[in-house]
Amino acid sequence: KHCILIGAPVDCGKRRRGCLMGPDAYRTAGIADAITDLGHSVEDMGNLTPAEVMVPTPANPKVYKLAENVGWTRTLMDAAQNAAPNGMPIFLGGDHALAAGTVAGMAAHAQKAGRPFFALWLDAHSDIHTPDTTDTGNLHGTPVGYVTGRDGFGAYPPLPARVDPANICMIGLRSVDAAEHAVLDDGDVMLVDMRMIDEEGIRAPLQTFLDRVAAANGMLHVSLDVDFLDPGVAPAVGTTVPGGATVREGHLVMEMLCDSDLVSSLDLVELNPFLDDRGKTANLMVDLTASLLGRRVFDRPTRSNA
Ligand code: ARG
Ligand code: MN
Ligand code: MN
Ligand code: MN
Repeated sequence: KHCILIGAPVDCGKRRRGCLMGPDAYRTAGIADAITDLGHSVEDMGNLTPAEVMVPTPANPKVYKLAENVGWTRTLMDAAQNAAPNGMPIFLGGDHALAAGTVAGMAAHAQKAGRPFFALWLDAHSDIHTPDTTDTGNLHGTPVGYVTGRDGFGAYPPLPARVDPANICMIGLRSVDAAEHAVLDDGDVMLVDMRMIDEEGIRAPLQTFLDRVAAANGMLHVSLDVDFLDPGVAPAVGTTVPGGATVREGHLVMEMLCDSDLVSSLDLVELNPFLDDRGKTANLMVDLTASLLGRRVFDRPTRSNA
């Protein structure tokens, strides 16, 4: 594989600052070497800056930094479409607002390639608000709303390719707002909350989704929010929610994704290095990326998968 690192120091998706340091924390944690050690090639495009755009005053006065969010969406939508034909883009966030651009751009790429597009959302949150329904005004809670074509994104770039909610799987859910329930409850998004993971394990629902992607010859984008993981093992995030995925659940997801060979792009989002504990969260996110790209304990089949 050829991996293309794209720094997206997006910090406007919520009020707490710090995600702008994310891309450099991943570099410091050795993401490029971790990838090349697995036999892949890597290129680092450096950090991008948001397009300057004019936006109307939002109808909802709580909405925070709309222009900067729209500018980033424009920039990242283009960056994704430019990079995708050359390799596997890995977007180094930056908060989750960046996914409005990366997912929309990758969906446009898939459409051009004539392949169905799927997204795996690994997150405590569903991030399916619109600028009108958000309680906090923090636009990192809205990227799924944007890419699925919900109303309320008039200030944003027109969507090149709407993502079908039936092609989205969310795993790790444990904090969903009332307005998000309203759209998810009678929608088509595949929802895997933490209780389901407790009761049935993370493997079965993920395999069900991956089988669907494979059957459709789809392209799969993975959006990994640090708060998918339990705050005990991944403290460097502003929106911690107790009761998240364990280190091994995280690795198993990545190992299964590697085996599937379906992943075309990856977001690493919400890392706030200012809140980290001696680089522990940045290191874990790099290790998870390595598992996605083929790092494993044994190269030969072991008892469980022989
Ligand atoms: N639902 C909450 C909100 O709208 C939290 C969103 C958290 N999103 C995230 N990407 N961490 O503010
Ligand atoms: Mn998120
Ligand atoms: Mn989250
Ligand atoms: Mn509900």
